[in-house]
Amino acid sequence: MTAFTLQNGTLHAESVALTHVAEQFGTPAYVYSRSALTAALQEFHDVLNAHPAGAGALVCFAVKANSNLAILNLFARQGAGFDIVSGGELQRVLAAGADPQKIVFSGVGKTAEEMRQALEAGIFCFNIESIPELDRLNDIAGELGKKAPVSLRVNPNVDPKTHPYISTGLKAAKFGVAYDDALALYRRAAGLANIAVTGIDCHIGSQLLDPSPFIEALDRILALVDQLAAEGIRIHHVDLGGGLGIKYRADQVQPTVAAYLNPLLDKLKGRGLKVVLEPGRRLVGNAGLLLTRIEYLKAGEEKNFAIIDAAMNDLMRPALYEAWHDIVPVTPRPGVTQDYDVVGPVCETGDFLGQARPLTVQPGDLLAVMSAGAYGMAMASNYNTRPRAAEIMVDGTQVHLIRARESVEQLYAGEKLLP
Ligand code: LLP
Repeated sequence: MTAFTLQNGTLHAESVALTHVAEQFGTPAYVYSRSALTAALQEFHDVLNAHPAGAGALVCFAVKANSNLAILNLFARQGAGFDIVSGGELQRVLAAGADPQKIVFSGVGKTAEEMRQALEAGIFCFNIESIPELDRLNDIAGELGKKAPVSLRVNPNVDPKTHPYISTGLKAAKFGVAYDDALALYRRAAGLANIAVTGIDCHIGSQLLDPSPFIEALDRILALVDQLAAEGIRIHHVDLGGGLGIKYRADQVQPTVAAYLNPLLDKLKGRGLKVVLEPGRRLVGNAGLLLTRIEYLKAGEEKNFAIIDAAMNDLMRPALYEAWHDIVPVTPRPGVTQDYDVVGPVCETGDFLGQARPLTVQPGDLLAVMSAGAYGMAMASNYNTRPRAAEIMVDGTQVHLIRARESVEQLYAGEKLLP
């Protein structure tokens, strides 16, 4: 990935020095590369367009990975659809110019109101995860005089070999309907007056670097498609979910989109099924970084700390999943290298973005926390009354503020004193 490169001794986003971004907008700030975002989506479109089974395929960006309007709008302009999991995300993607016919709605807990909104918007498909959810959707569609397009999210019981918190396709997960129950559920769905069975869906987990579990899952899904066809229930599209991983550290190998998709498309060839994908991380993860400044260097009794102005509230992944993000100086300097725990100001021992990182740094230096474009800002909180960071989009030599830094007043605007 060439979006972020050292040029004349300073880390740049495309053609813009990150020192310049920090001066103009302050830190902490999320910085994205427009060309990296569009290239990531293009890679999917190119592989799909080159394969006969990719005709008419739909890439639905999983909005939960990064819901900034500018990013959603870029993807919409490039022809993407969206995978949403809430009424809030529905409103966001519509505000960003999404085509409702390219929206799939996932999630185990859709409320009646969310179903209403999505039916009124005319989305492409509801990914249904339980019987009561199916029945509720049938009722609400009936009230509105509509037929709800539905896939069942089937749990193929495949081990994605990823972090347990982000595995979703195993039997013990709260997601999807059990593989063995799927047939009966489809029969039931097909018999409901206000439901149109249109597809089948699965999502087995996130940050998969080995594509083989996807193939295993598809085999199981296709076996079901055949059984359904034998009963006269015709499936028009297969939604394979998201989950393709990215390279977070040097020793990881990121499979190409072709290596991931082509074996799947080969299996789908000649079946006349439209392919739907829900990639999140892969489209945005390596297109963004978190820019932060070192406030203090502190020599503890056993460790050295680089105390930065970003914290776990800005990027939760290290605290929540012990996730690794490379941390690099924006302007590398000569000098003594020491191991630092890179920590924020939040009052929690779990507030670190990296541990035991060899760095040659001084107070005031800028650091870039890499691969932070996915599940970074989207999971940020206001813990410790910390306004959320600014978001910046670099496009060649241009810099755009795509989300202003929050103010403290905004944080307590909805709060009221007692009389
Ligand atoms: N579709 C469904 C139904 C999902 O639940 C997810 C992610 C995706 C698509 C997109 O998956 P992706 O392509 O991004 O792997 N916060 C965690 C990741 C949670 C993923 C949740 N579901 C992290 O920071 O690693």
